[in-house]
Amino acid sequence: MTRFEPNLRIPGPTSLPPSVREAGGRQMINHRGPEFAAMLGRIQDGMKPYFGTTSDIAIVSSAGTGGLEAAVVNVLSPGDRVLGVSIGAFGDRFAKIAEVYGASVDRMNAEWGWAADPAELQERLPAAEYRAVLLTHNETSTGVMNPIPALAAAIRATAPEALILVDSVSGLGAVPFEMDAWGCDVVVTGSQKAWMSAPGLAMIAASERGWAAMETARMPRFYFDLRKHRESARNGETPWTPAIAVVYQVDEGLRLMAAEGPAGIFARHEACAAATQAGLEALGFSLFADPAHRSRTVTAAHIPDGLDWKAFNGEVKRRGVVVAGGQGKLAGTVFRVGHLGSVILDEILGTIATLEEALVASGRPVEVGAAVAAAQRAAVAAERGATARA
Ligand SMILES: Cc1ncc(COP(=O)(O)O)c(C=O)c1O
Repeated sequence: MTRFEPNLRIPGPTSLPPSVREAGGRQMINHRGPEFAAMLGRIQDGMKPYFGTTSDIAIVSSAGTGGLEAAVVNVLSPGDRVLGVSIGAFGDRFAKIAEVYGASVDRMNAEWGWAADPAELQERLPAAEYRAVLLTHNETSTGVMNPIPALAAAIRATAPEALILVDSVSGLGAVPFEMDAWGCDVVVTGSQKAWMSAPGLAMIAASERGWAAMETARMPRFYFDLRKHRESARNGETPWTPAIAVVYQVDEGLRLMAAEGPAGIFARHEACAAATQAGLEALGFSLFADPAHRSRTVTAAHIPDGLDWKAFNGEVKRRGVVVAGGQGKLAGTVFRVGHLGSVILDEILGTIATLEEALVASGRPVEVGAAVAAAQRAAVAAERGATARA
């Protein structure tokens, strides 16, 4: 028998906690009334510590990609020189958006599986007077988390005027982020990732420099004009009819997150990432990402030679676990396990056990039980590490 609810181990959308699901089913309200205004205010205030900012945050009804588009079109003008730092499919997408809107984009591409190198960035920057640098915080296609503080410091040291735009769609809320302290100018995240809600909202924070840049930027924008969002938010509204059901959910998600506290959330993600990585390795999978920069929200593993991925994934799915395949040029060569949002260790241990069963069913040699034990040990070690640091 398969489970009634699948163990959704893709890197977003993530499973919804029961109270978040119920929140999404609530009756509609007037989005130009006091109840909505209070909710919008709570979300903006509740999000600020996760962005690490005291600046304004726009809550825009859109997929994460719309949030990236908003970041680009609000601060840039056609012809602006932009450096797109890409370490995977989403970095490529960010650069592409800037290109489509007429920016003159140079690329700094890392080999997939590796983080961007701050020293290389520092070398590349003097080549042109870049108006902006595009960074990906957590590259979901490769399972790599970029060292944003070091990258931002390299930019600030070499090109202090350049705006730093960060895609943290799949990172923010799961790991610490300090936008103000690190000097980032626009940071984007999405409701369906760490925020434990359905897809539909992009949250976009801008620094004072970022907000100022919007006054002179000349790329075309209407729906995504963040100045309109900021102005409306002052009256507790959004300029256009918002995805109210998702707003309810993010509000409830933030309530649950406040109850757990950021330190607890970050430690839980660290433990689940460590367990996933150790468990997969103990099953004989080799991980795709450079060990020094492995993501805490998604892990990519090579599909080993001789393993029929379709048949293997069929065995996994039949047991109620849903993992993600490879993206872009990694399709067919890696698979990915998501561990973000409401994820708990039991779900990761269940995933590892299921992958083990599917390997056995596929005729691969495994030492039964060893991977779950390895995952558990890694989680305990990560928890101890987090406690010691706290
Ligand atoms: C790092 C990153 N950027 C951007 C996106 C795009 O988000 P959406 O699919 O909501 O447009 C995703 C989605 O997976 C992502 O992981």
